Formats: sequence, structure tokens, C-alpha cells
Amino acid sequence: MSNDILVRTRALTVDFSCGMTFLRALDNVDITIQRGEFVSLVGVSGSGKTTLLNAIGGLIVPTSGSIIFNSICFDSMNEEERTIFRRNHIGFIFQNYNLIPSLNIFQNICFSAQLSQKSITAQQVEKIAQQLGIEDKLTQMPAELSGGQQQRAAIARAMLASPSLLLADEPTGSLDSVNGRSIMQLLRTAVSENNMSVLMATHNEEFALQTDRIIHIEDGKIIAEESKK
Ligand SMILES: Nc1ncnc2c1ncn2[C@@H]1O[C@H](COP(=O)(O)OP(=O)(O)OP(=O)(O)O)[C@@H](O)[C@H]1O
Ligand SMILES: [Mg+2]
Repeated sequence: MSNDILVRTRALTVDFSCGMTFLRALDNVDITIQRGEFVSLVGVSGSGKTTLLNAIGGLIVPTSGSIIFNSICFDSMNEEERTIFRRNHIGFIFQNYNLIPSLNIFQNICFSAQLSQKSITAQQVEKIAQQLGIEDKLTQMPAELSGGQQQRAAIARAMLASPSLLLADEPTGSLDSVNGRSIMQLLRTAVSENNMSVLMATHNEEFALQTDRIIHIEDGKIIAEESKK
């Protein structure tokens, strides 16, 4: 693992308004992620994991604080610039998959790479689909797949765009342990061979223990970090 920082947050705070009051979903979060580092984010339901991934990925604008990616501060970008930056550098595996219902699985898998104008071949799509055990689903529509199969298609879509940072929100959440382990292997390979950085929210202790560092979040605050390297 090289020792340079890909992304850092400074006093990142996100408030959601709830009627007359607000809920502080992230409270002064300072984290850094190195290039080629596999980090897991753990905490109970509602602790702020998805909010942190969405804020780092530029999908929600923080109430205060900043995100510095590749030495570029998100604050200095307008929405359009953020969108383009996100397409080119950041991959998402969403908690609810977010496949495009009107595209078949093959087209869904190509989608993110095409958005960022990375050329991929049919063979690459078939190869990753095979690694994930969904090679027989490529011509089907998302609604025809099980939750776990949709999740694997969403993983293939994110991986093929080869982002510098992959934000994975419970990527093994809908999978049995065998499929979960093969996802972990795929992520680990992307980290070690392509120097991708991964921030993975997970409830799975076994998988968290396989990452380079575990960040614990509670009530929107980072309460502990355990580094393995
Ligand atoms: N759009 C929103 N509007 C209002 N409150 C929100 C919104 N999104 C999240 N929250 C609240 O922010 C807190 C953190 O939510 P978040 O989705 O980040 O939790 P999480 O750690 O990902 O939980 P889980 O493990 O269940 O996925 C929760 O209390 C949630 O209710
Ligand atoms: Mg979540």
C-alpha cells in the first residue's frame, strides 16, 4: 500500500431537517483514505454509514466541513463539476443496488464505464459476470433477478468503470456467505492490482476484519479506528 492520501474529510457535518428540528447524521467527521487502501465502516443501523458514503461521493452536500479528493476540494466545485468528477473518479455500490429498470443486465453493467467514457469490451462484461456468477442473466431485466443477483450486477457495474475510489454500501448485504466471500476477493484484487481504494460499509464482522482498517461510527461520530497495517 502506498502512503499517499486519496481522500480526506475535515469536520464533515451533515444535518437533515426533520420538521421544526434537525437530525445530525454526521458530526465533525475527519477521516482519510490512502490510495490502494481497503477500509471498512462499521456501526449500527442509523449510525451514519450511508450518509458518510454519500457525502464523500458528492451525492449530498454537507452542512459544513469539507472533502478533499486528490488535493481538490469539493467545495470549490459547482454541481455540474461535481457530477463530472464523480463519474470519472468515484464508483458506487448502493445499498439498494440502483440498477436502471429499463436496461438489461449487460447494459446496466456497461453503464457507469460508458458514462465516464471508458471503453470496455463485451468480453470484460462476460468475464466479471462469470466471476460473480450472473453470466446467465445478462439479457434479463433487473426486475427478473433476485436481490442478491441485482447486487452482484451493481458490483460489476461499479468495478468495470475502474474508479479511484469505490464506495460500497453493504455490498454483501443480500448475499449468502459463499457469494459474499467472492465479492470480498474481487474487491481485494481491485485494491491490490489496480490500486483502487475502497470504503465499504458493512454489518459483517468477518468481512470487516479482512480489510486494512476498520472505522467505527456511532451517532454520526467516528469513535474508533483499528488499523491492520
Ligand atoms: N434524507 C434523509 N432525511 C432525514 N433523515 C435522514 C435522511 N437520510 C438519513 N437520515 C437519518 O440519518 C441517520 C443516519 O442514516 P444512515 O442512512 O446514514 O444510517 P446507516 O448507518 O447507513 O444505517 P443502515 O445500517 O440501516 O443502512 C438516521 O437517523 C437516518 O434516519
Ligand atoms: Mg445504510
